[in-house]
Amino acid sequence: MGKLREEVKIFSEIEKIKEKRPSSFDVIGHIAIIEIPPNLEDKKELVAQVIMSLNKHIKTVLEKVSERKGIFRVREYNFLAGEKNFETIHKEYGCIFKLDPTKVYFSPRELTERQRIASMVKEGETVMVMFAGIAPYAIQIAKKQPKVKEVIAIELNPDAVKYARENVILNKVEDKVKVIEGDVKEKCVEFYGKCDRVIMPLPLGGEEFLDVAVNCLKEKGFIHFYNWGKEPNIFENAEKIVKEKMEKINVKYEIVGKRKVLPYAPRKWKVCLDVYVEKVQ
Ligand SMILES: C[S@@+](CC[C@H](N)C(=O)[O-])C[C@H]1O[C@@H](n2cnc3c(N)ncnc32)[C@H](O)[C@@H]1O
Repeated sequence: MGKLREEVKIFSEIEKIKEKRPSSFDVIGHIAIIEIPPNLEDKKELVAQVIMSLNKHIKTVLEKVSERKGIFRVREYNFLAGEKNFETIHKEYGCIFKLDPTKVYFSPRELTERQRIASMVKEGETVMVMFAGIAPYAIQIAKKQPKVKEVIAIELNPDAVKYARENVILNKVEDKVKVIEGDVKEKCVEFYGKCDRVIMPLPLGGEEFLDVAVNCLKEKGFIHFYNWGKEPNIFENAEKIVKEKMEKINVKYEIVGKRKVLPYAPRKWKVCLDVYVEKVQ
């Protein structure tokens, strides 16, 4: 009876956590990734067991123990409960993604943003996805717009590249998506002047690649630029970066869309600017 009461208490704490901070609970395939609040610090294994018993598809529970770090943007985790198998299959919008979150970046919360971008791609376009990760943008685009000409996905992390290549096959988009391992700065050169659209999902440091993105475009095209913004003017910083870069490169541009993507920290947001660019003759 005592144990049951304890479990009910923890269950209600989990519900409260979910209500207050939806960011504290992510599910990637069979893996739940949680943030333990200080008041449950000494009961985290039990919290993990309760999560598994309430969600039968969850077989592994990991605790976030660091922010995303380094060039690959991967965080550290503490294994809490279940199977010690971190490779999983995640499903979104009819796509399947194989990945190991301890080795590669992947955010299940960005599915609607990926779908938003995929919905904008038109027939016959050549699309460059810089910083491609396990290829969720590239694959959603190829699935949503089967008449896309080509989607090029460039990624530096060898583990992410391995999964991206496998995911392309799993989703049967081999004829559309080309995965390239390497640094965007070097690998994009081959595609200068060939793309209609460039996606830049690297909010931290992506601005250093804006000139490369412009070079990838044909005479005109779209760039989807990700950055961070602080309230109350969450787009201000991204707009300033785009203005300075475009003026320096000497191209005409217009911000045709602004998107609040996800909360990142208190009063801080991940944002996207959709930028139409025309190269000046
Ligand atoms: C924020 S993650 C986004 C991954 C993926 N687009 C997604 O949304 O799941 C950024 C990715 O860029 C990769 N990256 C960072 N610098 C890079 C570079 N110079 N060239 C290619 N990839 C890079 C990292 O390894 C990481 O996988």
